[in-house]
Amino acid sequence: MGESKCSIDLVNTGLKMWCTLGIQVPVVCAPMATGSTAKLVTQVVLGGGFAFIPAGYENVRHLREELATTRSILSSSGQSHSLRLAVGVGFYGWKLDQDGDGANAMLDAALQAGVRAIWFSFGSELGKYVEYVRESDTNTGRKTLIFIQVNSVDEALKAVNEWHADIVVAQGIEAGGPGANYAPPAFNLVSSILSALPPNAPPVLAAGGIINGAQIAGFLALGAAGAVLGTRFLLTPESAYTGPQKAALLISDSTSTVRSHAFAHARGTFGWPGNIDARGIRNKLVEDIENDEELSVVQERLADATKHGMSDYMVIYAGTGAADLHDIVEAQDVVKELYREIIARLRATQSILIEPKKVVIEPED
Ligand SMILES: Cc1cc2nc3c(=O)[nH]c(=O)nc-3n(C[C@H](O)[C@H](O)[C@H](O)COP(=O)(O)O)c2cc1C
Repeated sequence: MGESKCSIDLVNTGLKMWCTLGIQVPVVCAPMATGSTAKLVTQVVLGGGFAFIPAGYENVRHLREELATTRSILSSSGQSHSLRLAVGVGFYGWKLDQDGDGANAMLDAALQAGVRAIWFSFGSELGKYVEYVRESDTNTGRKTLIFIQVNSVDEALKAVNEWHADIVVAQGIEAGGPGANYAPPAFNLVSSILSALPPNAPPVLAAGGIINGAQIAGFLALGAAGAVLGTRFLLTPESAYTGPQKAALLISDSTSTVRSHAFAHARGTFGWPGNIDARGIRNKLVEDIENDEELSVVQERLADATKHGMSDYMVIYAGTGAADLHDIVEAQDVVKELYREIIARLRATQSILIEPKKVVIEPED
């Protein structure tokens, strides 16, 4: 991956951001409640990318434990030399709202661990949490980068102009797990956001359905600073997905995923903003919810299926990219492979521009 401390000179956009994060590959592993583990997050970082621990629905004690495990794995790999922790933590805005007074304690757990970044998603009142992080930074003299995930141009403008995000994550409709049912496809969304933001605006990352370096190269060419991947990292030995969940992803095709509220209902995770649903594998669980089966019956069947590893009635969040994933690959290797693919595709694309010069085009009469 090269000797230099920060080898990302692919594009100038976002260069500073990647160097601040101390990473070499413009790839971020999304915070994935139910999908991430400390092991996954650390392996992505050791591979040269950046990764977020999901705070999800967890409490402070659990988050502290995850952070401690992360630090210990990075230390034993010789990668944690400072008080900073080379990962981020992802928070749901609506969940922090629900936590009320407990929200600051959750943020403190991340900030006291010295994480390099904090990710906020799915909240309309994120300003106060951003403010809290900024105040903490003023007191400690640290800089914690704030990522805000958005699903529309208006949300991007709010994230930049009102909340002063350091990085905007543009999540398209293809994304696995929770997302907005009104989001355009990621390529359109990134393009629209880049057109709407002023030239000195923060870097924009693309998210949703991205699984390979060619796609990331496409987003870099569009003007994004990098990409956020979730589903691709579920198919690693380090993810929290069970064997049956991974097997269901491996046999999925382009018709297998659906956006639905069924997953949250079945899991009993209520409180989501109304237009936030989730993408996952369409199975009997989804059909039962669509057919108005009693929630208690669905939840009983889900518990039973989870216990016995029956994937046709489990919650399996997945993005549209799952259709083209056919192997389980170690997370470090995924990041390295993505890096090679990005470079190869950008070089190949550049040659398209050089080749035509050799062609002599005769002027028409
Ligand atoms: C299993 C799973 C869990 C997720 N959990 C979270 C989460 O805790 N917080 C969040 O902001 N986004 C979450 N997401 C969405 C990701 O942030 C990201 O936008 C998405 O994974 C990108 O799409 P992809 O999965 O197609 O790569 C989750 C996605 C998946 C697949």
